[in-house]
Amino acid sequence: MNSMTRLTLAQQSNFLPLTVWGYDLWRKRSLSLLTGEKFPLERELGQFLDWVKPVKGQHWLDVGTSTGNYARVLVHAGATVTALDLSAGFLQGLPRHPRLHPHQGNMEDGLFGSAAFHGVVVAGTLNETHSAERMLDQAVQALKADGLLYLMYLLPPRKSFGKLEQFIGLKAGVRFLQQMTTRKYLQTQSLTLINESQHGIVSFELYRKSAAPKENAVPQKSVVSQRAVGH
Ligand SMILES: C[S@@+](CC[C@H](N)C(=O)[O-])C[C@H]1O[C@@H](n2cnc3c(N)ncnc32)[C@H](O)[C@@H]1O
Repeated sequence: MNSMTRLTLAQQSNFLPLTVWGYDLWRKRSLSLLTGEKFPLERELGQFLDWVKPVKGQHWLDVGTSTGNYARVLVHAGATVTALDLSAGFLQGLPRHPRLHPHQGNMEDGLFGSAAFHGVVVAGTLNETHSAERMLDQAVQALKADGLLYLMYLLPPRKSFGKLEQFIGLKAGVRFLQQMTTRKYLQTQSLTLINESQHGIVSFELYRKSAAPKENAVPQKSVVSQRAVGH
């Protein structure tokens, strides 16, 4: 893959066969660990579909699909999905389906034309990409007017999360994102927050892109927390 963008340690780890092999095991338990409540994948994906449906006949982009958790749910609900990932190892494991299109590349490189998708999912990927702002910019640009942007990302842990913070940060090398800064950043880009929930350090957010671009959009400061660890 010829990405023009530098990769973080967390991104590089996705090229290791062991990461690909162990991913589903981690993913099944990850949200329960991160939220501190029973949060199986079925609950996460059920909430996602409740928020975004109906998607039948729509074209969605799953940014950082890994093993295709969100892509599969969307295809099952009738959407066509472009499943994007940096890692060929992950993409090779995706199920074959006529409406599921694997695509290897870096979202930050501006791979898609404007207004190409009815919806974009970025679940977990913002925390490990090199520039969260550039990924958000590209996601917004790729959305049609009235299109939906769904985010799931990790917020800076509070003090009581000390050990967990070390585990996430040092093992996986992720960076935490500030919720208010992320929201303000997207507001300047014609996106309106239409649904949200927060569980532990996990924020789920759904935005709709307005038809008309906002005037006087002012770039915000970095959405990455000052408490980022692992880099
Ligand atoms: C935390 S995992 C995402 C998990 C997946 N969305 C899910 O819900 O199970 C992050 C994935 O995004 C991919 N990734 C990271 N940065 C990316 C980028 N800039 N462009 C495309 N894929 C990226 C990684 O290779 C990895 O597979």
